[in-house]
Amino acid sequence: MDTLRRPLIAGNWKMNLDHLQSIAFVQKLAWALKDANYQANEVEIGVFPPFTDLRSVQTLINADSLPFALGAQDLSMHDEGAHTGDISGAFLRALECEYVITGHSERRADHGETDEVVAAKTHAAIKHALVPIICVGESAEDLELHGASKVPCDQLRVVLASLAPTDTYVVAYEPIWAIGSGQAATSSQAQDVARALRDVIRELHGDSAADSTRILYGGSVKSGNIAGFMKKDDVDGALVGGASLSVDEFSAIARFPQHVTLDQEN
Ligand code: PGA
Repeated sequence: MDTLRRPLIAGNWKMNLDHLQSIAFVQKLAWALKDANYQANEVEIGVFPPFTDLRSVQTLINADSLPFALGAQDLSMHDEGAHTGDISGAFLRALECEYVITGHSERRADHGETDEVVAAKTHAAIKHALVPIICVGESAEDLELHGASKVPCDQLRVVLASLAPTDTYVVAYEPIWAIGSGQAATSSQAQDVARALRDVIRELHGDSAADSTRILYGGSVKSGNIAGFMKKDDVDGALVGGASLSVDEFSAIARFPQHVTLDQEN
């Protein structure tokens, strides 16, 4: 974590919580953070509900001025038209989404999204004034064959080729073997790959983009291991799946500055 980059803790709910449950959850999360004296200027919190919840969560955030950025989990590469079931970035922007996740490994696996599709979706996000959170990561097999950095760096290169150096984006390093497995990468592994990804940004988009772009780690992040990740220079936050569905866990992760000084490694 570099003090120039405001950390981002992003909760990817995946296909969990309907719109009624989302309202109760966001209210409880806001109360828990307020009680714990959460400082919004220190850490940005994003919530990424399913599409059907976005309007409810947006209304709640606005009505109660809650300190949460809203994001979606996916978008179409197209702006509008005959694309049954797809959601345009323009619609997300109209709901005041700030962020959208692109290239999550579950979409790559479930929907056959290639690097080129991820690049087109990321480009569409920028076009609609959304900040894409570009997910990259290697499988256990890739790790064995090529080490940790090669596949994520290759994936990032394809996506960055579709963007301009002045575009704002976030990168999330999510090793597939760590997602939902309870087996997080070590903080040193996360740091090594985050550094390699930052080097790719530097090579393709220059120093200013490399120094300002936030790189998140994702994969079995919990309140017990967040401090170790956040102590690393090139890790600027976390993309949290399972633990983002627990108010206690997610609020503890977002309050990592209160426990980051503990001598905690993972
Ligand atoms: P996890 O998921 O925290 O449940 O491992 C992370 C993600 O898929 O973004």
